Amino acid sequence: MKTVLYIISSARKYHPDQQQHQSISRMLGESFMHEFKQHHKQTEVICRDLSISPPAYIDQEFIAASFAQGELNQAQQAALTESDLLINEVEQADVIVLASPMYNYGMPAVLKAWFDQIIRIGKTFSFDLSRGDEPLAPVLSGKHLVLLASWGEFNFRKGETKYAFNHLSSHIEQLSPYLGADAFYEIASEYQEFGDSRHEESRAKAIADTRILAKHLALL
Ligand SMILES: Cc1cc2nc3c(=O)[nH]c(=O)nc-3n(C[C@H](O)[C@H](O)[C@H](O)COP(=O)(O)O)c2cc1C
Repeated sequence: MKTVLYIISSARKYHPDQQQHQSISRMLGESFMHEFKQHHKQTEVICRDLSISPPAYIDQEFIAASFAQGELNQAQQAALTESDLLINEVEQADVIVLASPMYNYGMPAVLKAWFDQIIRIGKTFSFDLSRGDEPLAPVLSGKHLVLLASWGEFNFRKGETKYAFNHLSSHIEQLSPYLGADAFYEIASEYQEFGDSRHEESRAKAIADTRILAKHLALL
């Protein structure tokens, strides 16, 4: 059995029968999940739609509790309850699928809030100054992280002219070890804002690539 943690973060919805204002990242996510389950019948899915249930922003109580030593009091435990739950979902996952739009050249605030709840000292990373200038080390390992993205412009991929603008993919790839990901995959649909044939082609290729990747990971 494999467990897939499926995280949705677009503010837009997706209905297979409608055409207008549809979330492309959700559509890619649905394609991935459908294909994965086709090829791996015993798939357990943990799905979180962050646009419906946004994680809390971390605050002073959260930070104090996450750095507290020894046994936590009730208030400290309460400050970490949501984080514990979200981390537990990451721990269970073999594959983590992040379906994400690009907003203002980065990730949606709800997705950043999710990462802030999960990347936590003693839980998903350790901190040890005896390691010198690289004191942080990931705790989890062995997972596959898939980013299914959509953006309105284009040329944001590695080696392309606007890669430096793309703080969505680079940020998530940089954080991926703290989710326990040894492998990072990215598929993106481009040109949404142009709505022309380039967009149609890019979207169709993203769907095809998503299915191929889902099958590959399902059969591993
Ligand atoms: C609030 C907002 C900010 C956006 N910012 C960018 C941006 O910085 N760069 C870009 O290429 N597209 C941008 N777009 C376009 C989206 O990335 C595009 O519509 C994408 O398809 C959104 O993903 P979704 O279809 O899953 O909702 C933005 C769209 C919205 C609604």
